[in-house]
Amino acid sequence: MDNRPIGFFDSGLGGLTSIPYLMNRLPEEKVIYFGDTARTPYGSKAVSTIRRFSAEIADFLVQCNVKMIVIACNTVSATCVEDLRKRFPEVPVVGIIQPSAEEVARACAADTRIGIIGTKVTIASHAYRENIEQLRQDLNIFETACPAFVPLIEEGIIENEIMDMTIRYYMDDFVRGNDLDTVILGCTHYPLIQKNISRLYPELRIINPSSIVTGRIERILTERNMLASGSDFTNVFYASDLSENFINMIDHIFADVDEDKKVKFMNFDLEKEKINGLY
Ligand code: DGL
Repeated sequence: MDNRPIGFFDSGLGGLTSIPYLMNRLPEEKVIYFGDTARTPYGSKAVSTIRRFSAEIADFLVQCNVKMIVIACNTVSATCVEDLRKRFPEVPVVGIIQPSAEEVARACAADTRIGIIGTKVTIASHAYRENIEQLRQDLNIFETACPAFVPLIEEGIIENEIMDMTIRYYMDDFVRGNDLDTVILGCTHYPLIQKNISRLYPELRIINPSSIVTGRIERILTERNMLASGSDFTNVFYASDLSENFINMIDHIFADVDEDKKVKFMNFDLEKEKINGLY
């Protein structure tokens, strides 16, 4: 048993989309979340910059004595998993891409036409494609970057025409031109526009890595005998810039979480001063 919290991080609020799945599957686990809202988006930045930012955040999480680091960001998972594993050999570091690629390889029929959408950095890395192709060579994989999604989502521009137009701008030709039947949400912000995507392309099967990563977390904690039980730690959510939108989005993302869990969950403590020490 290990009652220390799990550390999650993302460039902003996207990584929050994986937390309700964790709470439903492993309700005893507690979380420290770090959203780097002051420096989002990462997905159009240089890899060297992303490497520096993610090392800073991981250092902070390790100082907070987390038992595991979950990179709830595809952009960082695509570029920095191995760096972080080397930096903290004693802490399990879970990226979001590899478990998702394994699930795709397990679940998709031969000849499935799979589209990967993500940030510029994630798509340029071909990390999804390479991880899937190591396991299956009979799938048709297509990739496209959708760099305007994250800034719009961080602004809370979701349930409206501007978001729908932006989705069509990036995805109409991609989906129809490649005759896709499946799409992978290759950025943890995108589950927040999953309803829009389903409405615009009702025939598409949508794969959500934010839910899949929970299975990997459970497996590692179980194998290492590190599952929590009866922890009295309170979930903590840090943001490097505590915007009103970050707080509003917590409500939006946790709308379907059970009320009792949500109360505990909303009892967060954002200590901006602590974070300022990072920069
Ligand atoms: N949520 C992120 C990802 O999964 C980050 C996007 C960004 O900051 O550009 O890639």
